[in-house]
Amino acid sequence: MNSISIKELDLKYQDAHVLKQLNLNIKKGEFLVLLGSSGCGKSTLLNCIAGLLDISAGQIWINDRNVTWEEPKDRGIGMVFQSYALYPQMTVEKNLSFGLKVKGMAKGEIRERVDRASKILQIEPLLHRKPSELSGGQRQRVAIGRALVRDVEVFLFDEPLSNLDAKLRADLRVEIKRLHQKLKNTMVYVTHDQVEALTLADRIAIMKNGEIQQLSTPADIYHKPCNLFVAQFIGSPSMNLLEGRIVGENFVYQDYRVNLMGYEFINQGDHDENAFLGIRPEHLALEPRDGYVKLISAKIDILEPMGDETIVWFDFMGRKWSVKVHGDHQLKWDEDADIYLDPKKAHLFAKQGEVRL
Ligand SMILES: Nc1ncnc2c1ncn2[C@@H]1O[C@H](COP(=O)(O)OP(=O)(O)OP(=O)(O)O)[C@@H](O)[C@H]1O
Ligand SMILES: [Mg+2]
Repeated sequence: MNSISIKELDLKYQDAHVLKQLNLNIKKGEFLVLLGSSGCGKSTLLNCIAGLLDISAGQIWINDRNVTWEEPKDRGIGMVFQSYALYPQMTVEKNLSFGLKVKGMAKGEIRERVDRASKILQIEPLLHRKPSELSGGQRQRVAIGRALVRDVEVFLFDEPLSNLDAKLRADLRVEIKRLHQKLKNTMVYVTHDQVEALTLADRIAIMKNGEIQQLSTPADIYHKPCNLFVAQFIGSPSMNLLEGRIVGENFVYQDYRVNLMGYEFINQGDHDENAFLGIRPEHLALEPRDGYVKLISAKIDILEPMGDETIVWFDFMGRKWSVKVHGDHQLKWDEDADIYLDPKKAHLFAKQGEVRL
């Protein structure tokens, strides 16, 4: 059963066509992440679901009800924003209970819900404090609590962690995941952080210019990106690319050729076309391995040690190439190294249209 259905959704501002005929079905209990670079329309889409924007065309259904023209408060959703949007003069407890009180809910019920939410989010000791007396992470937990007390089936998050430092972001990320596992609500979560997307999502929708490029599981998006944009967007550092031609069983570029034995083409049969070969830094090696083929020898340009692993950068055919190696390597800057690749882990994209082959 779908929890949210978006049908042919169009949204235009005066001068900008932001969402274009967008279709999206979100399953009941699913954690769906909207991922894309700044300005691609993520918040706009979320705000349309919440009812905070009037759409130009299309329909939005929540729990099999057409809510396209319903007020935000009637849609049965809870929303958490990047800026915590807490009432500064109220205590945490008041912040949590205020909305329920306005709705005329009985005192006992309000108490129960506030207790439950503050227990889940571990903010019980903070209930008497004001937002100014809380850390960023604590404020964001209160903001989540405010959505939680409403006891809704659908949660919408718009970059709730982006104002926090890296450590806190990682901690709260785990808490949000735990929250979802416990409550099993439908959650739609906007971010431009791919680590958040890959770790939290049941499925990720990758957006570009108001259109969904790929909607799939994190593993699929990482291992089988549907086009060059998705391939380059996910993964850090970005996938390495070569521009050449597929001829028979080989990918050929200038004097080099890579045997493509083992590559799973979407369409079997003969391929003879201009294409990009992509390979992630973690699927290259600087020593021979089973199943790997030698690509080139090149001079090490930069070493980026990151503790458990090191990124080794090369200049190759006018592009920067990166290889991930174990952190305890003995490599030195300016040395020559042989680069090997695993053809089974390579990705091929047509030059024409840049779709996966
Ligand atoms: N009120 C508005 N009037 C006109 N254009 C707007 C308005 N709000 C947003 N836009 C434009 O719509 C596009 C999508 O904006 P949106 O806020 O949805 O992006 P986003 O994906 O959430 O980006 P970010 O990651 O920076 O938050 C942008 O180009 C933005 O400039
Ligand atoms: Mg946004």
